[in-house]
Amino acid sequence: MLSIGIDIGGTKVAAGVVDEQGGILERLQEPTPSHSPVAVEDAIVRLVGQLRSRHRVESVGIGAAGWVDNEQAVVRFSPHLAWRSEPLKARLAERVDLPLIVDNDANAAAWSEYRFGAGRGSSVMVCITLGTGIGGGLVINRQLFRGTYGMAGEWGHMIAVPDGHWCECGNRGCWEQYASGNSLVREARALARTNSPTAYRLLEMVGGDPDKITGPDVTAAAIAGEPNSIELLADVGTWLGRGIANLAAALDPEVVVIGGGVSAAGDLLLLPARQAFSRTLTGRGFREEARLELAHFRNDAGLIGAADLARHAMVEPPDSA
Ligand code: BGC
Ligand code: NA
Ligand code: ZN
Repeated sequence: MLSIGIDIGGTKVAAGVVDEQGGILERLQEPTPSHSPVAVEDAIVRLVGQLRSRHRVESVGIGAAGWVDNEQAVVRFSPHLAWRSEPLKARLAERVDLPLIVDNDANAAAWSEYRFGAGRGSSVMVCITLGTGIGGGLVINRQLFRGTYGMAGEWGHMIAVPDGHWCECGNRGCWEQYASGNSLVREARALARTNSPTAYRLLEMVGGDPDKITGPDVTAAAIAGEPNSIELLADVGTWLGRGIANLAAALDPEVVVIGGGVSAAGDLLLLPARQAFSRTLTGRGFREEARLELAHFRNDAGLIGAADLARHAMVEPPDSA
């Protein structure tokens, strides 16, 4: 049974046809039309239409970068997109005649990593996606933990720095202002604008315009050995590790899975994160430490998980322990 998974993030809408083992048969992508909910809906309808014309799919799962209510129908709020109490499920049901579910994008990513990826078989799994913001998902005893009102796992908006950078959620100093794709870009651009000789190489690599620097640019430059970009990623990794230590104090996870676009940096992100985590974890030296792992599906985890959640909204999931 095939299912379509759609991951709607702050920068792109990724869609794919996914099989029962989490394999992607075909994938498509568009930039997120960020200004209107209707434009996002249109993109979803378009992508579903294209994929359906080539595959026999039976359900559609949407992972949306926002706070989805308990009925998995309404996106209450999104820091990075235009949704405010948006009845996404009902709107789409009028235009797509397949069973569909809506969930938070990072919940979907957590689910695929738990079912098929880096968190398989774990008792408590924390998932962190680093994209435009920080997304969170939590699987406890084989189940996605949604909290009382559907909004658990929003740890991107825990305060990391009192009175720190403004966040799109309206608060200041949220963790995602220090460990996300957006923070990486903000810092890279700020560095490039200083005109410091040390920033020349990064600037040159992106064609000379600080305002055009993207997250993938910084990652590519770091992988190519550009020292400033390596440091910028290490800063993100350090903030990541500190935040994970806080989550570990609260949740005592077995594994922490790190996905999203920034996870493409691999060890350049993961090693500094592990180091900061081990240096910050409360009770260190006297306890087991959670494993920090990169998401097996990297940036595809969201769409794979959304598809699987849709499939199992129709059919009970097999025992995945
Ligand atoms: C939002 C989350 C979302 C995450 C990743 C955060 O800013 O609050 O709902 O999962 O970004 O897209
Ligand atoms: Na979540
Ligand atoms: Zn915030």
